[in-house]
Amino acid sequence: MPIYHTLGSIPAKRHTVFRKPDGKLYAEELVSTEGFSNLYSLVYHCHPPTIVKAMGEPYSVEPKIAHKKHLKHTSLKGFKIQPEDDFLKSRKPVLVNDDLHISLAAPRKSMTDYFYKNSQADELIFVHVGSGVLKTGFGQIKFEYGDYLVIPRGTIYQLHFNDEDNRLFITESFSPIRTPKRYRNEFGQLLEHSPFCERDIKRPENLETFDEYGEFKVLIKKQGLIYPYVYGTHPFDFIGWDGFHYPWAFSIHNFEPITGRLHQPPPVHQTFEAHNFVVCSFCPRKYDYHPESIPAPYNHSNVDSDEVLYYVDGDFMSRKSVEKGQITLHPGGIPHGPHPGTVEKSIGKESTEELAVMIDPFRPLMITEDAIAIEDPDYFKSWQENVE
Ligand SMILES: [Fe+2]
Repeated sequence: MPIYHTLGSIPAKRHTVFRKPDGKLYAEELVSTEGFSNLYSLVYHCHPPTIVKAMGEPYSVEPKIAHKKHLKHTSLKGFKIQPEDDFLKSRKPVLVNDDLHISLAAPRKSMTDYFYKNSQADELIFVHVGSGVLKTGFGQIKFEYGDYLVIPRGTIYQLHFNDEDNRLFITESFSPIRTPKRYRNEFGQLLEHSPFCERDIKRPENLETFDEYGEFKVLIKKQGLIYPYVYGTHPFDFIGWDGFHYPWAFSIHNFEPITGRLHQPPPVHQTFEAHNFVVCSFCPRKYDYHPESIPAPYNHSNVDSDEVLYYVDGDFMSRKSVEKGQITLHPGGIPHGPHPGTVEKSIGKESTEELAVMIDPFRPLMITEDAIAIEDPDYFKSWQENVE
């Protein structure tokens, strides 16, 4: 996140002597997601982050692909994903390509006996149901319904939930997740026309330092495998850190929609960007105020991207019989548009309560076996009432 942040104790100058009360040195580590050429932080561990005690056998969590190629409007009933105790086991990848993996998860239990690190992808966790605390070495971030948690790859974390009813919509991005460039000035500050600003960003707080030896299980994901590592020191042993690289959160409820006299196209809803995909937030807003305006979207044929919508809450103006947690995938190459009757119905309406997350990947998504298990097989026929 391009805002400087610091917690805990750090030395006055980087790369200088920084000692513990017992005279031993703290261990400095540079953390980043693009080598030495972009955002980074310097963290100070009580112990070197390299003390491996044991390694278990790696196992695959690679998505099982059902349809590598397809051209069908697809709908998934996301809340049909069954709750499972364990956070990692609960994650079900449904739509994937080489730029991102989209998963659904309904974890019941907090992560108390292990830590997790995604070494290959940034994670964007949208909290649809549930609340709790994201715990990391950088500090803690409290989360609740509507939060996007942005966790840069390489961050060791735990999710602690307040209860067992949790629904998460997770995007793994193989490139860094950022705020849209057009909303930032050359120094990274969010501009006046951005639909959110720095005040809306939740940064880590409550740094607790765990200066502990022992056996700490860290499950590390890389190239579709989970590597069970046992470290000899607690992963959250930061005495302090500073920089621009850290986990952060933004609530969809703090997105200030951009509206106009006539229908505004999806880019006004953009919230995040990464290589080859964007993430948008559709939020409750006033409708278009031209006296003859049609608030429902026009048909469109997005030939250069697929379009994924995850329905969170409220009525969705252009869709019939949408339910919470539903995902629609409208693949690039064929047009899609409002459902029969919804255009007429939208005329004269003054506002909408719709809440949804949209992801537009610029390369086609593959459909997994977990997705097929929750698919509504007739969705592609759902526009048929228009045929005479
Ligand atoms: Fe669309």
